Amino acid sequence: MIPTPNLSHLTRKDYEHVYEPAEDTFLLLDALEADKDFLRRRNPRICLEIGSGSGCVSAFLGAVVGQNNSLYCCTDINPHASLATQATGQQNNANDHRRYRCLGLVDILIFNPPYVPTEVEEFTLGQQQVDISGAWAGGNDGMNVTEHLLRQVKALLSPSGCFYLVAVSQNKPVEIMQRMEQEYGLLSKTVLSRRAGREHLHVLRFQVQE
Ligand SMILES: C[S@@+](CC[C@H](N)C(=O)[O-])C[C@H]1O[C@@H](n2cnc3c(N)ncnc32)[C@H](O)[C@@H]1O
Repeated sequence: MIPTPNLSHLTRKDYEHVYEPAEDTFLLLDALEADKDFLRRRNPRICLEIGSGSGCVSAFLGAVVGQNNSLYCCTDINPHASLATQATGQQNNANDHRRYRCLGLVDILIFNPPYVPTEVEEFTLGQQQVDISGAWAGGNDGMNVTEHLLRQVKALLSPSGCFYLVAVSQNKPVEIMQRMEQEYGLLSKTVLSRRAGREHLHVLRFQVQE
């Protein structure tokens, strides 16, 4: 069993501004661990996480696929989260996080998005305030931010690339998978699903080729 990354450097105060790892995060870690042979076989060089929050997921991915040959890049709309991610990378001996031009180069792409369906106003405010509320407010069907990324996934992925997406049932995961195949030829499967309180969470995996 791969241990959860050490987040002891993050405090209650940090979690006032940064998404604290929760059920969705841990389902994503479990999905990555379940896929560890698949991921290691791909020998990824560039891994990109969008919305990295605490940095827990990328630090875990580093433990799954190894630190030697891979570069881990993380982005987040929230500057508090970017700082937390950087500190988690250092705490867990992960590589520096840098911004790269990534078109066609990303071997593993990950997004645990703000997926909760909300009024458009709440979504817009969350994105504008770039603070903790932007971590969950997802607008219509909870898909506003995700839709933006879905249009770019195929262009970002390398020929052997894959993409992990967290979704709840209200996001209509089956429709997402059908659409990504019809529009971009991406193959997909549900790696894990789990009920967490009122949420029914799914981790979907998309790939360019078998
Ligand atoms: C549900 S949290 C997930 C955090 C972390 N990856 C995890 O699994 O614990 C969603 C993250 O996406 C970030 N986010 C929201 N809108 C974004 C956007 N437009 N671009 C990049 N990141 C965004 C939030 O700041 C937050 O850190």
